[in-house]
Amino acid sequence: MAKRTIRFGVIGCGLMGREFASAAARWCHLMDVNFAPSITAVCDANPEATSWFKQAVPSVKRVYSDYKELLDDPDVDAVYCAVPHHLHAQIYTDIIMAGKHLLGEKPFGIDQEANAKIGKAIAASPDVIVRCSSEFPFFPGALQISQWVKEERFGKIIEVEAGFWHSSDLDPLKPINWKRIVASNGEYGCMGDLGMHVLHLPMRFGWKPLNVRSLLTKVVGERPDGKGGLAPCETWDNAILACEAQSGDQDFPMILSTKRIAPGHANTWFIRIQGTAFSAEFTTKNPKQISWLPYEQGGNQAWHVMDAPYKSAYGTITGGIFEFGFSDSILQMWAAFCDEVANGTEGMLQPFHCATPEEAAGSHQIFTAALESNRSGNTIPLNWGE
Ligand SMILES: NC(=O)c1ccc[n+]([C@@H]2O[C@H](COP(=O)([O-])OP(=O)(O)OC[C@H]3O[C@@H](n4cnc5c(N)ncnc54)[C@H](O)[C@@H]3O)[C@@H](O)[C@H]2O)c1
Repeated sequence: MAKRTIRFGVIGCGLMGREFASAAARWCHLMDVNFAPSITAVCDANPEATSWFKQAVPSVKRVYSDYKELLDDPDVDAVYCAVPHHLHAQIYTDIIMAGKHLLGEKPFGIDQEANAKIGKAIAASPDVIVRCSSEFPFFPGALQISQWVKEERFGKIIEVEAGFWHSSDLDPLKPINWKRIVASNGEYGCMGDLGMHVLHLPMRFGWKPLNVRSLLTKVVGERPDGKGGLAPCETWDNAILACEAQSGDQDFPMILSTKRIAPGHANTWFIRIQGTAFSAEFTTKNPKQISWLPYEQGGNQAWHVMDAPYKSAYGTITGGIFEFGFSDSILQMWAAFCDEVANGTEGMLQPFHCATPEEAAGSHQIFTAALESNRSGNTIPLNWGE
């Protein structure tokens, strides 16, 4: 199949910038796609971060330390931007106004005001495709759950629980980094860092909370500052959001949690839906497994647990018997973004598109209300303006 090459610039060559480069290098993994990325330019304020790209990514022609120079590069059609949160508003806005397609990292602005600035640039640039990075819904088990929601299999929804949990911060000697500092990570703390991942599917399903009551906690107060001293950890470690969600004529409780300190968990993303006719669960803790419980009046209540075949949105060379993992979900998300750029939203080869700016804006509304709830101890109503 002839492939359209999309020429990418990467702004922010840290942890996630390298993850994209690795996905782009493994494009032959995907079958029957008519698009492929080529990383032609990279930019990082820290030259050490770009040196890895120079030796590992042969397609890189130009290396910049000022992102505005990358935006002037005519060999760049689209940008992946993975920088600390306080830089999102300015850099994303400049990318969009330069007419480059953007896959931007979450949370899409350090706060709601920053997010609104990005929204304005998007509204002024209708020909630019802008999406927010969120890879977990591309796990086969998560896609299966999306399918079941689409088929309305659950009956009356009893309760939904979704979360994203980490635990490396349980170590009090883990040095401080920008994700523990309000000026660079934002007042949202763990919600800004992890929350879009949790909200992606509820937002996609149209499960908008009517209100939120939050409990935000700080567990570790100080960390080594890397210079022999200690620095305060300013951001929230853990957040539990109790929401009253609404879908059509149904109301149900939805518990959303983002935790930096959940002992024993490393990158555990999960969703559990309980319904009167059907319940289902998927967690990346057991990435092969999907569980479901169909129920008919008077019948048995028996969980079915299956090893989900390796089958995501886009076909791959990997046999169905093998396991799907984090880097596969990143590759699939990238395929969805490139598909939308190459074929347009309506012409995509499969229908599951990346998280939208509207979905990211919804997450900001919820996090902002959660901060207010934690401050006041009240349940905060949300107005979706519909
Ligand atoms: N999708 C995911 O699973 C996932 C996982 C981790 C982080 N993230 C998100 O990715 C983004 C970056 O996080 P990370 O973990 O890669 O951080 P990181 O610290 O590893 O990398 C950020 C890079 O941005 C560079 N940078 C800082 N200022 C810059 C500027 N003005 N111009 C160009 N480069 C600049 C830094 O030098 C650094 O190399 C954040 O938005 C974060 O929330 C997403």
